[in-house]
This record gives sequence, structure tokens and C-alpha cells, in this order.
Amino acid sequence: MVEQLDSLALEFKEKIKNLKGEAEVLNLKSEFLGKKGKVSEILKGLRNCTPEERKVVGPKANKLKDDIGDLVSLKLQEFELVQINQKLEENKIDLNNRESFWFNKNKSGGIHPRSMIQREIEDVFLSMGFEVLDGPHIEDEFHNFEALNIPGDHPARDMQDTFWFNDPDSPEGKKHLLRTHTSTIQVRGMRERTPPFRFIAPGTVFRCERTDASHEMVFNQLEGMMVGENISVGNLIYFMKTLLKEIFKRDTEVRLRPGFFPFVEPGFELDIQCLICSGKGCSVCKKTGWVELLPCGIVHPNVLKSGGIDPEKYNGFAFGLGLDRLVMMRYGIDDIRHLNSGDLRFNTQFSAF
Ligand code: PHE
Repeated sequence: MVEQLDSLALEFKEKIKNLKGEAEVLNLKSEFLGKKGKVSEILKGLRNCTPEERKVVGPKANKLKDDIGDLVSLKLQEFELVQINQKLEENKIDLNNRESFWFNKNKSGGIHPRSMIQREIEDVFLSMGFEVLDGPHIEDEFHNFEALNIPGDHPARDMQDTFWFNDPDSPEGKKHLLRTHTSTIQVRGMRERTPPFRFIAPGTVFRCERTDASHEMVFNQLEGMMVGENISVGNLIYFMKTLLKEIFKRDTEVRLRPGFFPFVEPGFELDIQCLICSGKGCSVCKKTGWVELLPCGIVHPNVLKSGGIDPEKYNGFAFGLGLDRLVMMRYGIDDIRHLNSGDLRFNTQFSAF
């Protein structure tokens, strides 16, 4: 029996050397230590031994069991290490060698789906005579609130949870914040232009909110504004419908509800039927079947005044498209958090360089 155990030890060491994967190692382990394994069979035979024999064979068989266990763990660790090194090697980026990451198809990312949609929308509006404007992320109370008909004590300030900067010495109206909407660019755009004019302004906005499948603290809007003489709700709806048709390449189910925003009167919420669940109700549309996509309305006279425009002579419409939501609807993405994840597995699904 002692010899049998010695030769089993040798056999095991010999066999484990050449194994190629985790499964093979586990199979070998059970060939020796499993219920009907070679070592277990010997242990069963102990019953028929004399007490003297048992004293020798018992500990030796147990030691062999332990040794086999140790060898198995070592081998598995070895495989794991090889796997980790392989992964590291695959993801290695040599910053001195652009080709190693930029032009290699397997490793390059893609144009972010949001950028793709943004470019498409910009093209649609450029073709309709709109300019594309930009504006700062760090704003002051005047551009984010006051000029948009939201004075300091207005309850609408609570509608948008704001990230304020800690600058206690700033005078009233000048306190700094991260812009909560791209409507700030309406103010800047109006002040730099004389009517008639039309522009859109895509950009990142920030709100101190809890995140969930349809809310992010950092997200993107695309603002639009058209000012001139005799602009009507009909004009607004025409432009919105054109936009949605170009983006979804088909007629989408929409509904217009009254919506309150201090900077527009009348104000509307344009919802589209949720394209993730086809209106059945899911986590993105909060089980309602509809997604708020396009708040809009006729610009409030006070806002025109803040922009240096005579409200007696001119009027206009404005909208604030939720860009990330649009991307989600278009590509069937069920969680907004994927968009900022920076995960190549996500980005590369949409386009490649
Ligand atoms: N700025 C508004 C928001 O972020 C959206 C909006 C823009 C509403 C323009 C009406 C007109 O909530």
C-alpha cells in the first residue's frame, strides 16, 4: 500500500505537469481525490489493514491528499496569472506609439453615439438656416436664472438642483454655478444678435440629483431659439416634427402637454412614445410609456427684454431637447449611465474609426 501511494504521488506529479487548462486540472483532481478516486480507494482499503499498517498508511494517504490539494491550487494560480498577464498585454497602450492604440481596429473606440446624433441634429438645423452656438459650463445666477425670468425668490429655482460654487464675496446675481440647462446660451445668443435670428446650442449641463436609469448629474441638452416677427406655436411644432422625423427616420408617436417653465409662455412638454418598450412601460419611461424629450414654448417677454430685444416688436420660440434621452430612444439604450461610462465595450458598438 505504501508503494502504491508513492507511485500515485509520482503519477499525479507527472500528469499535472502537462495540463493545459483549469478544467483538466479539476478533472485530474477528482480522478485522484473524488469519491471513487485512486487515493480514496486506498483509504477505503484501510478497513482491512492491521492496526500497525494503518498507523503507517493512514497518515501517508492523508499527506498525499494534502499534497495533491496544494499542487492543484498552485497550478490553478499559475493559470490565473497567465490569464491576467494576457489581458494586460492585450490592453497595453504604448503612449509613444500612436499606432499601437489609435489605428488598431480592435483597440480603438468609436464616435460616441451622443456626438453622432448631435452632429446629425446640427446638420438638420444648419440646413434650415440655424447657427450653432456654444457657451460656458460655469455660469452666474444672471444667465442661468434671472435673465430667464427666474428671480432669486422664485420657486422654479428649486426645480433644478444646482451645484453652486462657494464664492461668498460675489455680489447678488453674480454667484457662480454649474449651468443647469443650456438656456443660458439663449441669453448670451440674444444679447449678441439683432432679430431675426435662429440658433441651436448643444451642451453639457449639471444637476445635483440622484442618478437612476433615466437621470444623470452630468447630461446633455440641445437648446434652440428662433426670434423674429409673428412667430407662432405652429412654427415651433413644425420645426420639432421635422427634427424628430430626421432623427428617427419615421413618424414617431408624440404628445404635447402644457408645461411650466418661467421663461416661456405658453410652455409645453413634448413627449414621445417610449421606443425602448414601445409604450408598454419600462424603467426608462417610469412605466408610463412616454418619455419627456422636448420642453418648449413661446419665449416670455421678460426674457426677450433681458436679451435686449423689444417684446412689442418681436417674439420667438425656444426648446431644450434632452440629448441623452434622444440617444437612448434612438439606439434602444436602457440606462443613461452607460453614456458617460467611458466603457469601450459600449462605445465601439455604434461606430468604429
Ligand atoms: N431649460 C429647460 C430645462 O432644462 C428646458 C426648456 C428650454 C424649456 C427651452 C422650454 C424652453 O428644464
